[in-house]
Amino acid sequence: MNREELLQHYKGKSVYDLPTPCIIADIETLEANLQKMDDFLNETSCKLRPHFKSNKCVSLARRQMSYKNTVGITCAKLSEAEQLVAGGVHDVLIANQVIGMDKTVRIAEMNQKATVRVAVDSKIGIEQLGTAAQEAGVIIGVLVEVDIGMKRGGVLPGKPVYDLVEIITDTKGVSFDGLQSYEGHIVTLEDYDERKRRVEQDLKPVIETKKHLEQKGYQLIISSGGTGTYDITGHIDGIDELQCGSFALMDSAYKKIRPEFEYARYVLATVTSNQMGNKTIDVGLKGVGAEYGIPEVIGYPEAHALGFSEEHLVFEDLNASIGDKIKMIPPHGCTTNNLYSKMWISRNDKIEDVWEIEGRGCLE
Ligand SMILES: Cc1ncc(COP(=O)(O)O)c(C=O)c1O
Repeated sequence: MNREELLQHYKGKSVYDLPTPCIIADIETLEANLQKMDDFLNETSCKLRPHFKSNKCVSLARRQMSYKNTVGITCAKLSEAEQLVAGGVHDVLIANQVIGMDKTVRIAEMNQKATVRVAVDSKIGIEQLGTAAQEAGVIIGVLVEVDIGMKRGGVLPGKPVYDLVEIITDTKGVSFDGLQSYEGHIVTLEDYDERKRRVEQDLKPVIETKKHLEQKGYQLIISSGGTGTYDITGHIDGIDELQCGSFALMDSAYKKIRPEFEYARYVLATVTSNQMGNKTIDVGLKGVGAEYGIPEVIGYPEAHALGFSEEHLVFEDLNASIGDKIKMIPPHGCTTNNLYSKMWISRNDKIEDVWEIEGRGCLE
């Protein structure tokens, strides 16, 4: 069934009527999470560019764009940006390097109808973007990625950044728009005071780098931050945009340090087997992102997971019968959404809509 047929068939029915496994988002909880972040941003001079990688759903991105403090969408991949632009999102930051002329040409093409900026950390990356931009007759805005300790990309603050800014300034087709940093190495530190101290300490050199460039006459932004640091990074003078993504739907890994955001999305599964009292459900590693542990089963606090395989999860002490449907909170929401092609939308457990997950499998 296509989206319209699915909706016609299930709209108004109970979520428990859906075939499992599937993911479902409660619209009221989702909107409350979005509103909470927007309210927070009202107290700061910072704006939000929520990360698409966390849900991969263009309908959700469009909804986020309607909030006052949201200026655009962040994504990790070129093909995610293409889905966003095709879906009507016209201000996108790819917070990642894009290397290869075959890919930079696609970025240039998107810039003919939208603003799609890219993070850079190498001369070759800048040159490839510049060449593609000139051929397409556009200017591609770039943000220099600054490594503040995560060690997966970017250059160190200070001189390495100034050197790249000089190359950008000398390269036709690209414009220097700012700095991109992400405090991923400390975003989930459990102790809040320690997290705050580390974030402020590790972002300081980026702020100093920005000030130095401003003194030289450059106008630039800093884009940074995640769900674990939004209220720290968002209060740092000199940070212009936050890239938080997980807060919208939440997951059980983040809930430990961010109790203020509620679970808006869950996986619905069916109990399919009763093996000597242990219950097996119809979702395994292919239906829930479990890098951060075992899913939380709502309403069955006594349930204890014994083991995962591709299509099964076995519990002991799960007080449910074959055929019962159970709701589970994924430990990692970003990789969970990447496993599904649609997310059902409910209100008071009644199905209201179904949103495509266009970014599923967008790895290019
Ligand atoms: C570049 C970048 N920015 C921001 C984030 C923040 O995402 P979240 O809000 O899910 O922590 C991430 C997460 O991996 C990221 O890679």
